[in-house]
Amino acid sequence: MINRIAVYPGSFDPVTFGHLDIIKRASEMVDTLIVAVLVNKAKTPLFSAEERVNMLRSVTKDIGNVRVESFSGLSVDFARRQGAEFLVRGLRAITDFEYELQMAQTNRIMAPEIDTIFLTTNLKYAYLSSTTVREVASYGGDISRFVPKEIEELVEAKYRGKR
Ligand code: PNS
Repeated sequence: MINRIAVYPGSFDPVTFGHLDIIKRASEMVDTLIVAVLVNKAKTPLFSAEERVNMLRSVTKDIGNVRVESFSGLSVDFARRQGAEFLVRGLRAITDFEYELQMAQTNRIMAPEIDTIFLTTNLKYAYLSSTTVREVASYGGDISRFVPKEIEELVEAKYRGKR
């Protein structure tokens, strides 16, 4: 039996309803979806990789074929090690396109056997990004429409600690 595996790489700092929508839809297209949290040494994230993995595990616990892992290095190298055929990325708007196309083409040169699948985000979440969630939360704004309840509490706790 073939086991079609896709990797959905990202920063997920924190996971939003937009990411969750992509995770749900992508998980229906493959046998196994691996959500891959980038450990990026160049950037200081709000949440550690371990925290981001735990948050993603918690909000995806009801989706049977989703696994959450962290990785460092290239997405295509991680995907190869996992035996994945696809990378998944969400496209919100034209502004995402240039960067995403460049990344997908570069990944294709490095790993021609792995294709990038773009899912257009649900229009409901087209405006949403982890960056804006952090920005709103950092000023004490309401992020309940952007992230699941348990994530809202964790984000708010982070900023409470920083104020
Ligand atoms: O959620 P993000 O920050 O938009 O995700 C970006 C991510 C993690 C997919 C991208 O930065 C990435 O794949 N980084 C790992 C290094 C890599 O493979 N770069 C692509 C080659 S140009």
